[in-house]
Amino acid sequence: MSDQTSSTIIRRRLATVTDLRGASLDAYTTAPTRLAQKPSPRLEHLLRIRSTPDELRMAELIDRFRPPSLRIFDQIPMRSHDHVRQAKLIAPYLADQSVAFMGDSDCTSLLLGLLSKCGRPLPSRMLILDFDARLLRVAVDVAKAYGFSHVLEARLYNAFDALPGDLVSQFDWFYTNPPYGSHNLGESARLFITRGCELVRPGGQGCIILPHDRQRPWTQAAMWETQSFLTQHAWAVNDKVRGLHRYRLDDDRYLTSSLMLVENVEGVPCQSMPYSDRRVAYDEIPLFYGRGVMPPYPRYICHDGSVDEDWIMPEVYIDA
Ligand SMILES: C[S@@+](CC[C@H](N)C(=O)[O-])C[C@H]1O[C@@H](n2cnc3c(N)ncnc32)[C@H](O)[C@@H]1O
Repeated sequence: MSDQTSSTIIRRRLATVTDLRGASLDAYTTAPTRLAQKPSPRLEHLLRIRSTPDELRMAELIDRFRPPSLRIFDQIPMRSHDHVRQAKLIAPYLADQSVAFMGDSDCTSLLLGLLSKCGRPLPSRMLILDFDARLLRVAVDVAKAYGFSHVLEARLYNAFDALPGDLVSQFDWFYTNPPYGSHNLGESARLFITRGCELVRPGGQGCIILPHDRQRPWTQAAMWETQSFLTQHAWAVNDKVRGLHRYRLDDDRYLTSSLMLVENVEGVPCQSMPYSDRRVAYDEIPLFYGRGVMPPYPRYICHDGSVDEDWIMPEVYIDA
């Protein structure tokens, strides 16, 4: 699909949603915070996964080490309690598996590494791919300091770039808490998901964290698009728990995200995903980071927090 075509399709879909609701796009995509004063009862309340003080201390340790979050680029940390619960839920699935983290400023990879010190299962390999060099340095340092650097690697990578060939189809699992794409029907998330799907072997699995909330219509429309996209490309949603995580998000305190486990169904004929195996131009995905950030987007966040907008140089790698 040409750059022009995919961008046109997204714009057309956005227009359709606007028509259906009889409201302006702004009114539709900007979640009014007054809608959700309190979350309704959810399956997560029945999961009753408690965090011990030691586990919470680990999550708080990560909070202290993590570089300052850049809200404009969707770095919005998950709350500590929810993060511990998420890591404990996913750890048994990822035990002894190779896992690629497509973006990880939550630092779930690090929390899994720390929790393994209390006997929780650990993946056999964890690779963090992220455009933020500050985050990767912290990840590598923490893994060294806490004795799990033998399973953790980090590479500077921007999701708009094609994946380095040596990583394609190399992993059992991908894991992503992507930019949600609240202003483009979840298209931002689907770029990250595409990269995740490319990273895993045929029959591989993925953990995707995305909002799906009746009180925020944009999340329902985006989730519908994303589930349709997964189905079209031979990925099945095996499990889903809604409303599991909350964030340190001042302008929408009760926004929650869901945990979704997906699996590639082998042998089903389907077309390749529109963004796979190529550089994606940023105007193909309008409003990637919302309305506050216009292209050119940074290719990398540098160690000192400055942005690198040079898209001509080949990719740089940092290895743990
Ligand atoms: C977008 S945030 C999602 C929110 C999540 N709670 C968090 O803070 O990690 C996920 C990760 O994607 C990274 N990221 C954002 N844009 C990226 C891009 N174009 N390429 C690669 N990583 C990116 C961020 O640095 C962050 O680590």
